[in-house]
Amino acid sequence: MRFHAVSGAAARRRTDCAIVGVHESGTLAASAVPLDARLNGRLARLAKRGDLRGRIGETALLDVDGGPCQRVLVVGIGGKGALTRKQYKKAMLAAAAALVRSGARDAVSFLSLETVTATDAYYRGRLAAEAVGHALYRVPAIRSTRPPKPPALAAFAIAVQNRSQVADANRGLSHGAAIAAGASLTRDLANLPANVCTPSYLASRARQLAREHRSVSARTLDERELKRLRMGSFLSVTAGTDEPARLIVLRHQGGRRGAAPIVLVGKGVTFDSGGISLKQPPGMDEMKFDMTGAASVFGAIKAAAIIGLPINLIGIVPACENMPSGHATKPGDIVRSMSGRTIEVVNTDAEGRLILCDALQYARRFKPAVVLDVATLTGACVIALGAHLAAVMSNDEALAAEILAAGQRAEDRAWHMPMAEEYHEQLKSNFADFTNSCGREGGAITAACFLSKFTEGLRWAHLDIAGVAYLSGAQKGSTGRPVALLVDFLANHRGS
Ligand code: BES
Ligand code: MN
Ligand code: ZN
Repeated sequence: MRFHAVSGAAARRRTDCAIVGVHESGTLAASAVPLDARLNGRLARLAKRGDLRGRIGETALLDVDGGPCQRVLVVGIGGKGALTRKQYKKAMLAAAAALVRSGARDAVSFLSLETVTATDAYYRGRLAAEAVGHALYRVPAIRSTRPPKPPALAAFAIAVQNRSQVADANRGLSHGAAIAAGASLTRDLANLPANVCTPSYLASRARQLAREHRSVSARTLDERELKRLRMGSFLSVTAGTDEPARLIVLRHQGGRRGAAPIVLVGKGVTFDSGGISLKQPPGMDEMKFDMTGAASVFGAIKAAAIIGLPINLIGIVPACENMPSGHATKPGDIVRSMSGRTIEVVNTDAEGRLILCDALQYARRFKPAVVLDVATLTGACVIALGAHLAAVMSNDEALAAEILAAGQRAEDRAWHMPMAEEYHEQLKSNFADFTNSCGREGGAITAACFLSKFTEGLRWAHLDIAGVAYLSGAQKGSTGRPVALLVDFLANHRGS
């Protein structure tokens, strides 16, 4: 896919598909008027007749062969006022989906000429490229039939107001394409079934990532090395499965040598059956997505490498299965974490925090500027925030604010939840330093409080993505979130 920005006369060149807006009231968007003039008022007539629907995300594909373009894709952009960033993204996603379904090989979007609140040329380009990348994504389906023909789309342009915006828009488009490439990797890994996407498979994809990008290197630790590191908590989760666990360490070296790295830690439970505290059958298949934190770390590193972000970035992925068996950890078992602290495993289904606490301890060796962990950690987070926003918890208010702002800019939003002292009480155990599970109340918060016991002295934040990582039902599949948030954070983080 080729992305570029065009201004002025260049925007009126011939194209396979021009993308313009229409308002809810049935009037053409301002950006559609010049094109309509060249089509002798045809669009305005269709709009007036009520043939074009203007609610955000409604689309109509018109054949205008013989005009300055083969097709016009009319997209609803709602009321007359400025679009919000969310509305622009929604309109772009709908436009991109309709465009990819059409036979067009190239397109020019004029939606970028509409007013979008607090959105510059860079973000117009970036959100547009992300939307096209999202629409072009195909799940790695394992079928016996031949795959459908790939979409014809090969080039996508956005129109900008004047020449001075071309460079910014192009930068946004290229960053958006990089984020889309990262998110596609995340979606691929997360969508693969757990009998394919095992811890060793993730390790092989890490090595592949290192081969593909000069700035990236990968290293994996096997269970022998994890034992030597005394990662008793991590190892207790993998005890019940025959599939060997891995600790994967990815690096993107883009900053100066010796500059403190940003460390991303991703939960890589390739299948979470719950272990001896076995989950209920309905929806258990979705626990193949329990490695989406890991997959989003892979995706963010891929995007950082493509963009060439001038930072040192390290990804740490503890990867294992959580299965029941005669060797499995039992409720009530006490394990010793790498930090030396002991944990009473009251519920083997609260396994994410058990692998993360050892990975977070391991992160200390890199003397990180910031540590961010990403995990499908709790069902309680889905109850609290639903499928729309991720939860952020941090031991540093400024860092939490930075992550919220990144989510806002990337339109991949998160919400700050408290880790007040009262919640920490719930982690007490009669038999060990902590318990790994303390009931349903405030479950997303108490999970974060547990992790905070292992990140003292670090600038650390935790992202619970259980709600946003994937969709259920007919749309079942990975969303690629929160790669856009992570990349925005990485691109804008300034020292510490
Ligand atoms: N992977 C799950 C959390 C989850 C649930 C993710 C639903 C996505 C959708 C996690 O390992 C888990 O099982 N958490 C338990 C914790 C509890 C036992 C304290 C939960 O949320 O029920
Ligand atoms: Mn679990
Ligand atoms: Zn889990």
